[in-house]
Amino acid sequence: MSGHVVVTGGRGTIGSAVCHQLHHAGTAVTSVDVVPVVTATPFEQVVGDVRDLDAMTTVLKAADAIVHCGGLASDRPGREYDTYDINVAGTCTLLLAAARAGVRRIVHLSSINALGCVGVGTPAYLPVDDDHPHTPISPYQLSKHLAEEACRQFAERHDATVVCLRPTYVIQQSAGAGPGAADLFAYVDLRDVVRAVKSALSADLTGFHTALLAADDLWGEHGSGPHTSLVSCANAQSLLGWTPRYRHTV
Ligand SMILES: NC(=O)c1ccc[n+]([C@@H]2O[C@H](COP(=O)([O-])OP(=O)(O)OC[C@H]3O[C@@H](n4cnc5c(N)ncnc54)[C@H](O)[C@@H]3O)[C@@H](O)[C@H]2O)c1
Repeated sequence: MSGHVVVTGGRGTIGSAVCHQLHHAGTAVTSVDVVPVVTATPFEQVVGDVRDLDAMTTVLKAADAIVHCGGLASDRPGREYDTYDINVAGTCTLLLAAARAGVRRIVHLSSINALGCVGVGTPAYLPVDDDHPHTPISPYQLSKHLAEEACRQFAERHDATVVCLRPTYVIQQSAGAGPGAADLFAYVDLRDVVRAVKSALSADLTGFHTALLAADDLWGEHGSGPHTSLVSCANAQSLLGWTPRYRHTV
């Protein structure tokens, strides 16, 4: 897409990939992250905290859309307060800044964990889909659920478009750690996540939407044979025209 996109968490795994891909596609990009800038990038970088309302309002003044990747990406023992403060209060603050700055398109990196049925918790049915009831148990799960509720409220109150992408375990390389049985062996390649972000930025949508993202097989050795994903990406396909391209089957 053209225009100007602000990417929070722009120095993280997903945010960094999004910034580079959008820049290569000709979009003006501003990365916002609490981590100090140490390496130059071909796009603008701003050091800032999503909980800082004035700073976020200022950085969003020229923006057409936000990709919100900033926050804590898993449960951190001893950091429960930070999980709520950054992921929930931080998202609410960013949305308030968006309202003030007039930004009406947001792609929020939520998670399958908003549903509370993987990692800790058990699915009510399989395959898990976007209509699965929310039963968050861990602080991280609760933070992702509550941030989605903030997004839903923003979309309704401001007649805006908010797409909450719900990646499963994001994989960059086939080697190394991956999702286990409690995660339903569900994973998605980082490149497919970035494709979904780009589609969500330009899709002809209004209102609040959610889209689970998963590869169409199971992680690693579990992907061999007739095994297909236990996560349905029907919303991603119908809303965004997205289907996964990459597999990491051993
Ligand atoms: N990686 C996965 O497997 C995965 C899966 C599903 C969902 N997600 C979600 O995607 C998002 C990004 O995940 P990631 O893997 O890129 O995480 P990451 O930890 O690599 O990146 C997060 C970035 O957010 C920044 N950040 C933290 N607090 C901030 C604040 N207060 N203000 C501004 N920036 C802040 C960090 O410095 C970091 O650069 C998260 O919301 C996560 O919940 C990730």
